[in-house]
Amino acid sequence: MDKTQNVMELLKVYNQEHVINLLEKLKGNKKEELIEQLIKIDFHQIKELYDNTKKEIEIKENKIEEISYLDKAKLKYEQREEFDALGEDIIRKGQYAVVTMAGGQGTRLGYPGPKGTFKLDVYGKGKYLFEILAENLKEANKKYDTTIPWYIMTSKENNDETEAFLKKNNYFGYDEENVMLFMQGELPLVDTEGKLLIGKDMKIKEASDGNGGVFSSLRATGMLANMKERNIKWIFIGGVDNALLKMADVTLLGMAIKKEVQIASKSVVKANPQERVGVFCKMNGHPKVIEYSELPEKMAEEVDSSGELKYGESHIMCNLFTIDAIEKVSKEPLMYHSAFKKNSYIDEEGKEIIPEEPNSYKFESFIFDAFEFFDDIAILRGKREDDFAPVKNKDGVDSPKTAKELYEKYWERQ
Ligand code: UD1
Repeated sequence: MDKTQNVMELLKVYNQEHVINLLEKLKGNKKEELIEQLIKIDFHQIKELYDNTKKEIEIKENKIEEISYLDKAKLKYEQREEFDALGEDIIRKGQYAVVTMAGGQGTRLGYPGPKGTFKLDVYGKGKYLFEILAENLKEANKKYDTTIPWYIMTSKENNDETEAFLKKNNYFGYDEENVMLFMQGELPLVDTEGKLLIGKDMKIKEASDGNGGVFSSLRATGMLANMKERNIKWIFIGGVDNALLKMADVTLLGMAIKKEVQIASKSVVKANPQERVGVFCKMNGHPKVIEYSELPEKMAEEVDSSGELKYGESHIMCNLFTIDAIEKVSKEPLMYHSAFKKNSYIDEEGKEIIPEEPNSYKFESFIFDAFEFFDDIAILRGKREDDFAPVKNKDGVDSPKTAKELYEKYWERQ
């Protein structure tokens, strides 16, 4: 069977006749391109993901417990010294790398470009989010007399723009040899009947497969091998949109080493039960984050005997992994979550439809779903005013305005 027939067969089996109709209308390059794209789609996976959208997320069947953590502000002097020394040693030896996940779309912020190119209005002149991250790393490099390799995950959508932006700004003074961009993967979007959406370019519409794609992408793009060549032992993975993110916290790193765990994370206390952050817990004995979109209201509001939120340790996207942990997870399929969103598409008559209501599912894996592959995690509770100034929404909470205030106040205190 030639590849066109093969693809046609698959489309039939998986009820995608509208794509067959399109293929029959297309000619030349356009047809070839679509066939090439279809060959790469795992139809079985897409069907499974679509079928899963019909199932309820079952949290109650599982055994959920609170997670334990250490509070950075309450560590004994000697303990803190010990953690810091252990962490510092790894960074000084050049065995530490940082990954920034910058493949997201920034839809909530209403900013069209890659989020890292957003300028936060701080100190009059303003600073780009990438600039703030570069400054944080340069500070660590100076302190520990090293250059931390910096890996930046982009998406198909924003890779070129990100690359051009960083080049134009001379990598904000970061050594170019130590900045490595790599792209995450994509998955097709499907409508409410599980049909693939067709885009204006006559291709199947795809979107980034979520920040959990970081592990397999590190492997697939050769970045994991690159880390191994550099003898990296610990990898920090963080987001692009927290103006107070500390990417080289020696206390967190040292605590992970001392506790002999493979993964670690910084948390802050949840501001209120409704805050849009994931929360840590243990599920069936393994570390887990329940995302805000999936946390039942009752659990969100539950308090312990001292009146504190039972599930109040927020995941602030400040995670550490050993190289072995990344190696392991990069080979394991992570679960996917679906989000019901608005996506334009081309209908059977070739007309573009711009929906006013959500019409299709986007599938994403989340970075913290990797935690379940481990028995334990070291969690260090930081402070909101030192560690968490997210730029998420256009206005109100977690907006450029609140991040600016937090950022400027933090630097006034230093
Ligand atoms: C995220 C966390 C949430 C946490 C909150 C803290 C996830 C799924 N959720 O929520 O638990 O409490 O941050 O601020 O991580 N990204 C990619 N590729 C993608 C999607 C996202 O690189 O396909 C990157 C973004 O560029 C960003 C980070 O992942 O740096 C967070 O993504 P976002 O979608 O903004 O997550 P939140 O909903 O804010």
